[in-house]
Amino acid sequence: MSLFRTVGFVDPGPSIKGRGVYLRMPVMGDYAVWSSLREKSRDFLTPWEPIWPEDDLTRVAFRRRIRRYQQEIQDDQGYAFFMFREEDDRLLGGLALSNMRRGVAQACTLGYWMGEAHAGQGYMSAGVRALIPFVFDTLRLHRLEAACMPTNQASIRILERAGFKREGYARKYLSIAGRWEDHLLYAILDQDLRT
Ligand SMILES: CC(C)(COP(=O)(O)OP(=O)(O)OC[C@H]1O[C@@H](n2cnc3c(N)ncnc32)[C@H](O)[C@@H]1OP(=O)(O)O)[C@@H](O)C(=O)NCCC(=O)NCCS
Repeated sequence: MSLFRTVGFVDPGPSIKGRGVYLRMPVMGDYAVWSSLREKSRDFLTPWEPIWPEDDLTRVAFRRRIRRYQQEIQDDQGYAFFMFREEDDRLLGGLALSNMRRGVAQACTLGYWMGEAHAGQGYMSAGVRALIPFVFDTLRLHRLEAACMPTNQASIRILERAGFKREGYARKYLSIAGRWEDHLLYAILDQDLRT
């Protein structure tokens, strides 16, 4: 995606604006605030995420993460974003588009997380709504998918209020906190925004 070809270890490239928030690509300079927010939110996040590698919050692992993100952009395989509050540039959480499938599918998968201190204030709803036009207008995809555990009420609310439709139920779909968990499958199509 040529728009993000300039993204580097220091330059995050263009940002995507939402309601009171903006999204931009992570860079090395985000390490200290990112690791601090993730550490403080560990108990809040880990029940809903794949097991964190032992060294996940180290600077070395973050550098690998940034390299991976950059490679994914170059290969049009994924797009990771950090989300910041507009008024004070504070890091709130993150969103990622992964599992990009071009060809006849033109689809990808959305994932997200929020720092515990910032949850329940509408920020992730704003972030997801901001990302949808990027997916359909900039990346020119046809379908954006997301999955969440049936017990994740906050995630269900975000997706349904953003216009995602519930399409199915996948048994033991993802390994979350070390256990294979059933998931609700959601998707929104480019044409859903025009109907
Ligand atoms: C899911 C998560 C990203 C939501 O972020 P957020 O910024 O708190 O979301 P919002 O404030 O935009 O709230 C979204 C909706 O969920 C509702 N909500 C929030 N927490 C809730 C809870 N514990 N139970 C029920 N509803 C909840 C909000 O009221 C809001 O609904 P509304 O729009 O009708 O008012 C965040 O809670 C999180 O990171 N959780 C842990 C990790 C996780 O679940 N990741 C996603 C895996 S699919």
